[in-house]
Amino acid sequence: MFGSVDKCRNTEDFRKLAKRRLPGPIFHYIDGAADDEVTYKRNTEAFEKCDLVPNVLAGVDKIDMSTTVMGQKLEMPLYFAPTALQRLFHHEGERAVGKVAEKFGTMFGISSLGTVSIEEIANLVDTPKLFQLYVHTDKGLTRDMIDRCKEANFQGLALTVDTIVGGNRERDLHTGFTSPPRLTLKSLLSFALHPNWAFNHYTHSRFELSQLKDWIPEGSKVSLSIQDYFTKMLDQSMDWKAAEEINKYWGKEFALKGIMSVEDAKRAIDIGATAIMISNHGGRQLDGSRSPFDQLAEIVDAVGDKIDVICEGGIRRGTHVLKALSLGAKACSGGRMYLYALAAGGQKGVDKAMSNLKNEIERDMKLMGVSSIDQLSRKNLRFR
Ligand code: LAC
Repeated sequence: MFGSVDKCRNTEDFRKLAKRRLPGPIFHYIDGAADDEVTYKRNTEAFEKCDLVPNVLAGVDKIDMSTTVMGQKLEMPLYFAPTALQRLFHHEGERAVGKVAEKFGTMFGISSLGTVSIEEIANLVDTPKLFQLYVHTDKGLTRDMIDRCKEANFQGLALTVDTIVGGNRERDLHTGFTSPPRLTLKSLLSFALHPNWAFNHYTHSRFELSQLKDWIPEGSKVSLSIQDYFTKMLDQSMDWKAAEEINKYWGKEFALKGIMSVEDAKRAIDIGATAIMISNHGGRQLDGSRSPFDQLAEIVDAVGDKIDVICEGGIRRGTHVLKALSLGAKACSGGRMYLYALAAGGQKGVDKAMSNLKNEIERDMKLMGVSSIDQLSRKNLRFR
């Protein structure tokens, strides 16, 4: 039947379904990016600049696609990047995504702008957990989130470094998207046109930004656009010294999320980070910036033997993961690749999206003639 998650074979199928199920402003918040959305599109297109060259007759009946990243063994080389506001997209939110991460034995990223608490996730989800930190001007709040993650035994902390101000998300300006949704005539009309979403949203546990609600009302009770949230609430004086201090205070696996240059990748090592996510925030911040895949080779060449390099953004296919691993990434991660599925069908949707991607990775490894990901190298890639 048209419209069922079982029939969704790829990210685009889930995207179409999400578009039908969500009120317009919420769909466009997920789907949109900065300015002309050039970088957003290029993040995926970049993977088409090179081709895979398979080897055959390799005996590929048994496949091991596990990888170790940030000291954690992941059963597959793709994990859930932290994303904000998940219970707005589907009432199951992080509870659904976390359970699927656990089922697939992969890492679950939890956002500072998450909608289920650090403590609840710690009790609910048994898989490596990565907390994404936004450094707020309120230092007490920033410290409190780190303390809670320590207490809850999260394995890793990822400091986001590419949101020093809000990106220019013109779709959000156009639709008037805010968190929580502002109740206007226009938004009420859009809820009325999506009664299932509205019913579920307003009848399940009250929307909140669980890590922030006791410190600030913005985003939980006071409606604000994400663009304004970043610009008003985050600490624009954040620098390398601050990042180093956070790493010291945390004292465990530490990543910088949003590194794009070789210079910064080297500095990440200097401050003791154990991983970097090459990322442009899904094209949502600096439009016109390069794609993570395009930056991957030079960063791996410079630092790949000293720090875990993760390629984040634009992943839509198993072959994209294989291409990034061939260039030297330890793992890949993504947001929209599972958010459309969450919006389309909650846990069931995310499960189907991840199993589609896992099946693709497995099939593609077999077709490439490799049975473990360390057999992938630049020898099996050609740039045009
Ligand atoms: C965004 C943030 C919240 O890109 O990650 O919207």
